[in-house]
Amino acid sequence: EKGGWDSFMAKEISEEPEAVANTIRGRVQDGTVTIPEIEGIDLAAIDRVLVIACGTAAYAGTLGKYAMEMWGGLPVEVELAHEFRYRHPFLSPSTLVVSISQSGETMDTLMAVRYAHERGATTLSICNTQGATIARESDGVLYTHAGPEVAVASTKAFVAQITALYLLGLAIAQARRTMPPEQIGEQLDELAAVPEKLTEVLESADEVRTLAQSMTDTRSVLFLGRHVGYPIALEGALKLKELAYIHAEGFAAGELKHGPIALIEPGQRVFVIVPSPRYAEELHAKVVSNIQEIRARGAHVIAIAEAGDVAVLPYADDVIRIPLASPLMEPLLAVVPLQLFALELAAAKGLDVDQPRNLAKSVTVE
Ligand code: M6R
Repeated sequence: EKGGWDSFMAKEISEEPEAVANTIRGRVQDGTVTIPEIEGIDLAAIDRVLVIACGTAAYAGTLGKYAMEMWGGLPVEVELAHEFRYRHPFLSPSTLVVSISQSGETMDTLMAVRYAHERGATTLSICNTQGATIARESDGVLYTHAGPEVAVASTKAFVAQITALYLLGLAIAQARRTMPPEQIGEQLDELAAVPEKLTEVLESADEVRTLAQSMTDTRSVLFLGRHVGYPIALEGALKLKELAYIHAEGFAAGELKHGPIALIEPGQRVFVIVPSPRYAEELHAKVVSNIQEIRARGAHVIAIAEAGDVAVLPYADDVIRIPLASPLMEPLLAVVPLQLFALELAAAKGLDVDQPRNLAKSVTVE
């Protein structure tokens, strides 16, 4: 069943290019998005989006927020499903509540969907499992076509969720006429190019394995990112906690000087997701300056940087390269080395990669 791979997780990471391609397939035609399954939801009538999810799915939600706000020109909030219904949130029929769940059975998310439904909001679920409870109870379902995900750690479902959210963001932009059609077409072309770039990123697997194998005694790892790199930093930290049982934290790079920089001591390993110098010059300069700050305090920096970005070289101890991609597409690539790193470090420690301790694939209790 593992098709020659050592673990389901390794197999599922290798399937990421297909997960993205299959999620796009049949939904894009001549530069426009058509999602027949959600035609019953009037996207032109919504004025606010509330995303609810847990864990990795919630990090995908944050990337969806950046895309939907930018393209759809409407406010988007992301909330952990288990926090959402205990604070009497404001909801109306023009609020689209988007739930994201690989399994479609996560109890926290299901209860939040029910809560939103009972209070008159329109509910849409992004789900990877056909006919799951959350899908059945929502007004519309946008399926991710990642294929069954067996490993407890979510990998290919994550990239498929981001893809589905981007398609939804562009569908909202079409319905609300917030973007010229040719710009929508350009974004769809960028998205269509992601699978091939993912295949390229997967080629760095050996390099990441060597890095992970050199870090089996590491007790703490930090992850820094800005803008779209921030949810990826959080995801990188979650993967490492889940799989390798190492203390890991993700931070927004700009938050460093507001506290976390006190953690930096000589030898502290820090992954930094570096924005593209071509597409995001200003952010790139800020992140390079963050790297300099931690480097001056002895941090050992592992940069995830675009191919050809030479500005990071003087400051990074290790550099993992990803292909050039526009800002919103970059996180789909940057997450892969972090998934591989957690997998390889766990494997090097002799841990069960597919069934980490204390965790279940689908959390069906609140
Ligand atoms: O099935 P769901 O997408 O609703 O699951 C949500 C989280 O429990 C899940 O993403 C969890 O964080 C994973 N173990 C992450 O690898």
